[in-house]
Amino acid sequence: MNLIKWINFQSHEDYRGQLVSLEIGRERTVPFDVKRVYYIHKTGPDVSRGFHAHKNLKQIVTCVAGNCRMVLDNGKSRQSVKINDPTKGLLIESMVWREMHDFSNDCILIILASDHYDESDYIRDYHQFVEQVCQ
Ligand code: TYD
Repeated sequence: MNLIKWINFQSHEDYRGQLVSLEIGRERTVPFDVKRVYYIHKTGPDVSRGFHAHKNLKQIVTCVAGNCRMVLDNGKSRQSVKINDPTKGLLIESMVWREMHDFSNDCILIILASDHYDESDYIRDYHQFVEQVCQ
């Protein structure tokens, strides 16, 4: 099963630069209603983040500067992908374990989320995640 699902955003590039548009609504490029947007920056190669899954939340992660490596794991297989293209978003479904590694110093991730922040939606223990996902 391929855990790596990219969404291609609308991109408009000319001599002035590149404009990337994420539409929600009639012409959806984002397959859920976005209730929250957050970003991660000021990271670096020596730190890793994530190490959790969400029971219900869906997210799209895009890297608008620099790069990092995302690990996705559904309890059966684990896949790793480099994120470095602002015209693409990585769709992370619910009940997928994610880890972020190898951040470049200039990395900026923007994350679109299908719901508000809710700590009770997190599974932060990997063994607990595997138990729940393999039920
Ligand atoms: P954390 O889950 O550790 O981030 P990551 O998944 O990148 O490892 O979140 C860091 C802190 O920020 C933690 O105290 C929870 C808080 N937080 C919010 O308050 N709102 C949010 O939308 C998010 C994603 C995190």
